Amino acid sequence: MPILAITLRTGLITLNILAIAAIAGIVAFRILSVRRQPVEKTPQNLATPLEDDVMEGRKLERSLRWAFTFSLILAAGLPLYWLVEPSRQDAAVVGFDERAVERGAVLFANETMPAYEGAKSLLCANCHGADAGGGAAPFVVTPAAQGSTTARPIKVSWKAPAINNVFYRFDDSQVHNILVYGRPGSPMPAWGVAGGGPKNDQAISDLIAYLHSIQISPDKAKATATAAPSKYKAEQAGSVKIAESNLATATAALAALPADATPEARTAAESAVSGAEFALSRSKARSTEMKNASEGQLLFETNCARCHTKTWSYFDPSNPLIPDLPPAGSGALGPSLRGGSVLLQFPGTPIDDSTTPGFQKQYEWISVGAAVNKPYGVRGISSGQMPHMGLFLTKAQIESIVRYERGL
Ligand code: HEC
Ligand code: HEC
Repeated sequence: MPILAITLRTGLITLNILAIAAIAGIVAFRILSVRRQPVEKTPQNLATPLEDDVMEGRKLERSLRWAFTFSLILAAGLPLYWLVEPSRQDAAVVGFDERAVERGAVLFANETMPAYEGAKSLLCANCHGADAGGGAAPFVVTPAAQGSTTARPIKVSWKAPAINNVFYRFDDSQVHNILVYGRPGSPMPAWGVAGGGPKNDQAISDLIAYLHSIQISPDKAKATATAAPSKYKAEQAGSVKIAESNLATATAALAALPADATPEARTAAESAVSGAEFALSRSKARSTEMKNASEGQLLFETNCARCHTKTWSYFDPSNPLIPDLPPAGSGALGPSLRGGSVLLQFPGTPIDDSTTPGFQKQYEWISVGAAVNKPYGVRGISSGQMPHMGLFLTKAQIESIVRYERGL
């Protein structure tokens, strides 16, 4: 809003300032004029009082007229105020939300976006995409995170999820916690003061307001979720192509080595070739596995694996420096779902019968979830970190995931 725009509000404020200035002017003038030409007034007790008919006639009537005028102003003003007040309050609430969204947009933006402000923007868009449709973050997996002091740090590209659909999977308080505390062990930093980050609650709720304002429609959200498995299959098939071209490059480099190359250079070229061979066979295996995977398994990969399969977010079969993917669902931010642990939490056989109580309970847990500190399953207690997928996936899709999980 331009500062000088004449709205009702600025108009009234200006009027007030003018009135105050006028009163101050009159007072100053009075004081100064008294000083300059002091005129002696007759003290009131010596002055002749007004005649009765003046006092009770003209003067009284004038006073009554003034009293009547002010009563009229009050009588008209109060109902008018009462009439306008609700819409003023509504407008204030809308304006409040709009300003929160504007501030959140500045916090979210990166250099490519119009809302970007160098000193304020937190660059969420760098990792999550300018449209919040998902992206990737460069990250270094430390030796400690790999569980070995002799391991080398690995440079990876960690998938950052789409968050233009985050409220179809998490509620406000869950998103609030994610923003305040981040996702330890991942590139998602803690932004709130309570989590050791730089931002107060006001900024966090501005970000939440902004995220609300950019959510895609429910149909679009479901469509992206439904399209994700084939996209993932294509991505894994694409890694075979990348691995093939890497192998061709490495083989050509080895062949092009001059006869007098140092033994170190030859060993390096040879190990590049064997690394590329390993990456190619791994890419082929992964691509085949995904090509033959059930719908439940694919939906697990695209919706659940990033929290339930360690390293999933940066696994790249075509890059030999990146370690193998551990067994699906063996645990990361969320617990391991393997070895029958799901059947302990949500008991019942046969595993694929959607009428057993355990299956139903597991379906509810994934579809609706449980509020923080509320129980789930036989002995579970929710930490509020699990998304609820009922608005994001269809009933049939969730059931196919449950079936897959119960067989892990
Ligand atoms: C350095 C990259 C990076 C930046 C900057 C970043 N994020 Fe994230 N964010 C991630 C990654 C990666 C994840 C997923 C972590 C995981 O795999 O568990 C994530 C997860 C999230 C999630 C949870 C989404 C879900 O579906 O699980 C939300 C919400 C989120 N980020 C919002 C934000 C907001 C808002 C900002 C800016 C204040 C921000 N992020 C800045 C990388 C980043
Ligand atoms: C943002 C991370 C995250 C994502 C994504 C996620 N989960 Fe979870 N999940 C968790 C956490 C954390 C728990 C542990 C319970 C808790 O802390 O509330 C959990 C628990 C579970 C459990 C109960 C395990 C037990 O033994 O108690 C099941 C089953 C489960 N998740 C299935 C899924 C499925 C299916 C999906 C995908 C549709 C999914 N999860 C996606 C984080 C996640």
